[in-house]
Amino acid sequence: MVHFLHPGLRPRTIVTPNALEDPPGCYVVQEEASPYSLVDICLIVLATDLERFCSERQDGTLCLHELGSFPQEVADRLLQMMTVHGKLNDRTVGIFQGTQMQLKQVCIRKANISAAAFQKAFCHHRIIELDATGVGVTLTIPDILNSLGSSPWTRQHLQCLVLNSGNLLLEEAVLPRFSQLIGLRVLSVSNIPFQNRDLADVALLPRLESLDISNTSVSDLSALLACKDRLKSLTMHYLKCLTMPTPQVLEIIRELKGLVHLDISDDQQFTSDLAFHLLQQTDILPNILSLDISGGKQITDEAVEAFIRQRPAMQFVGLLATDAGYSDFFTSDPSLMVAGGANVSQISEALRRYSERVCFMKEALIRLFTQTFYMQITKPAVLKLVAVGMRNHPLDLPVQFTASACTLNLTRQGLALGMPVRLLSEVIHLLLKALKNFPNNQQLQKNCLLSLTNARILQDVPFNRFDAAKFVMKWLCKHENPNMQTMAVSVISILALQLSPEQTAQLKAELFIVVRELLAIVKQKTSENLEDITLTFTLRALWNLTDESPATCMHFVENQGLAIFVQVLETFPSESTIQTRVLGLLNNVAEVKELSSELMMSSLMTHVSRLLHSVEMEVSYFAAGIISHLIPLGEEAWTLSGFQRSTILDDLYMTVLKWPSPSCKMVALVTYRSFKSFFPLLSNFAVFEIQLWALWAMHHVCSKNPTKYCRMLMEEGGLQLLEDIRDHAQAEPHVHQIAVSILVDFHMHFMSYRKSSGSKVPLQT
Ligand SMILES: *[C@@H]1O[C@H](CO)[C@@H](O)[C@H](O)[C@H]1NC(C)=O
Ligand SMILES: *[C@@H]1O[C@H](CO)[C@@H](O)[C@H](O)[C@H]1NC(C)=O
Ligand SMILES: *[C@@H]1O[C@H](CO)[C@@H](O)[C@H](O)[C@H]1NC(C)=O
Ligand SMILES: *[C@@H]1O[C@H](CO)[C@@H](O)[C@H](O)[C@H]1NC(C)=O
Ligand SMILES: *[C@@H]1O[C@H](CO)[C@@H](O)[C@H](O)[C@H]1NC(C)=O
Repeated sequence: MVHFLHPGLRPRTIVTPNALEDPPGCYVVQEEASPYSLVDICLIVLATDLERFCSERQDGTLCLHELGSFPQEVADRLLQMMTVHGKLNDRTVGIFQGTQMQLKQVCIRKANISAAAFQKAFCHHRIIELDATGVGVTLTIPDILNSLGSSPWTRQHLQCLVLNSGNLLLEEAVLPRFSQLIGLRVLSVSNIPFQNRDLADVALLPRLESLDISNTSVSDLSALLACKDRLKSLTMHYLKCLTMPTPQVLEIIRELKGLVHLDISDDQQFTSDLAFHLLQQTDILPNILSLDISGGKQITDEAVEAFIRQRPAMQFVGLLATDAGYSDFFTSDPSLMVAGGANVSQISEALRRYSERVCFMKEALIRLFTQTFYMQITKPAVLKLVAVGMRNHPLDLPVQFTASACTLNLTRQGLALGMPVRLLSEVIHLLLKALKNFPNNQQLQKNCLLSLTNARILQDVPFNRFDAAKFVMKWLCKHENPNMQTMAVSVISILALQLSPEQTAQLKAELFIVVRELLAIVKQKTSENLEDITLTFTLRALWNLTDESPATCMHFVENQGLAIFVQVLETFPSESTIQTRVLGLLNNVAEVKELSSELMMSSLMTHVSRLLHSVEMEVSYFAAGIISHLIPLGEEAWTLSGFQRSTILDDLYMTVLKWPSPSCKMVALVTYRSFKSFFPLLSNFAVFEIQLWALWAMHHVCSKNPTKYCRMLMEEGGLQLLEDIRDHAQAEPHVHQIAVSILVDFHMHFMSYRKSSGSKVPLQT
């Protein structure tokens, strides 16, 4: 079967991502464009296919086959991989029981394991850090604290504990004591109903340096005075229950003289004036390096600037969703990092810092979107941050929606070229996931569709083409505005060819509808006598869809495709590009044995026999192809449709002889996925005219791409047929001559291949 590869598409320019374009201190391009480390590749294999490397204990948990020794860092990393890939559960976590492995940094984010399994797998390890953010309901915070407290070593030595978004089961449950974990330096308890009394307990920790109580139920900060000489970092974003009057809060902060980092940022809906008043203080926070007041109200450039001028060592200020950050002071000092909305650096910083905070994520993405209007250069680091935001908030529509708009602008045509493929692949994966989560959001679908129209993405980037094709097909059937429809058509024409036969078979129902829709478009354009880009794409799409697909050809015929195509030929009598596409598709239909007789309509064949004489090489070529496939139908079929088969055969013969040599150039490059449809023509010695067309066609493509087609000749058994013609006593002289030429070319290619590769067997048979 046949389709065209358009010369404009090749040779393709591939721009390799340039790691030198990473901003200082950032390694996005370098990471995304490099292969994973060997250790990680091994661990991913182990984590995702664990059963193969394990035996099962009596209680159903897994146990790794005997290992030599497993370095502790590698064990930590394996656990992290299992967590990230969602492979951690009560069964798999068994591999950490016993002494086979030693863990130090335990990450079980969002894992679904039970309290008993946690105790058994982890509590005998000498854990320094535990990140149990968002673990499932079967492992509550009291469970975790009790388990950790049961180990004397851990009570002494655990330094860092992260319990964000954990479960308490009973909202009002009294938490076990944190203060028993006397080694703790870093504690994070955001998004849990942590109370004043818990804060009082935590403040007793003798080594506590860093505390995050964001979005907890704390209403009074007085307890912090108990650790005022130790605390270096305090994060209390969105303390929604705080009832303490602002002057008193300021008094407490004033006492925390060692603070280096303070975060009092706020959700915008929550209107605290704390930040506003804090900025007025001169005798406060003498050692501060980093202050986050994003989302604060009535914050002005002047106030922030004055505050920072008094504390010249400051390195960071968070100003997103405030009125500040826009003056030269902020955008000109490279030693001051700002998370804000004024320029791309500020927005990137905001995306990086607030990747877990949905309200700021939204805000930053909206700012980013307006910035992307003017972006002229590829920004992989920014795209990566957008991807992280999408991944972290899959169920937040505004985030998904705004992020999809940003990715679209960040990857539009030229900009996608310099993006690492792995990053683009992740972005498309996230977009397809968003479509699943929000099946009814028009604009999201539109952005996703537009992203797919990107040639770079469509050609080079791995993603689930089946899901994408299904989505685009659905879109096509919805009759959206005509421009979008054109894009859907162009995307589907390319995606359709990238599906495996099994996938195409699964999409049978959708394909049927798509062919009908495409034909409806052709019909409408024809009746309007409108030759536009939509018609062009639609004809090409139908051509591509029918390639190597008898079922699609069948749908085409069943939906009056032939009559519609006659109309097309009559409406645009002098458009050779349209004629090429129409005849190219009809070639695909003619190759399907069961359908070829359908083409024997006099209205259609009148055009085909006329176009055989077209001065356009392609048009003449495809007309000859159709005729060649229909000749075997026999005398009667031809007479019935009002033609003299012998006259047509003479025409065909004379036409092919008039063509230039087969190595001539056509405007577009004809390609075949298989030679099989030629074989019945080649072995038909009774009708040398169709042998002649088939040989001319084969010689043509072989001379254009010897590597591909010489291999095809061998693999499909075409070589034997050519030799039969060469050795046949009655072969027509021109037929004989082309067959010999192909064989000569084939052997020359074969020899030069052998020479260049030094191999004795260049091609597999
Ligand atoms: C959590 O794990 C238990 C058993 O280990 C299983 O029954 C349950 O369905 C899991 N829950 C989720 C949300 O995956
Ligand atoms: C605050 O924490 C609660 C759980 O305690 C959670 O449901 C909510 O989404 C959090 N809010 C924000 C803005 O993070
Ligand atoms: C954006 O602002 C940051 C500081 O906030 C500054 O370092 C950077 O140079 C600014 N970038 C541009 C392009 O103005
Ligand atoms: C970015 O997207 C918006 C809306 O989709 C569009 O109006 C704008 O032209 C795009 N900018 C560029 C530079 O493509
Ligand atoms: C048909 O498929 C080929 C191969 O994938 C592609 O190059 C060509 O652009 C497609 N045609 C259209 C109209 O998209």
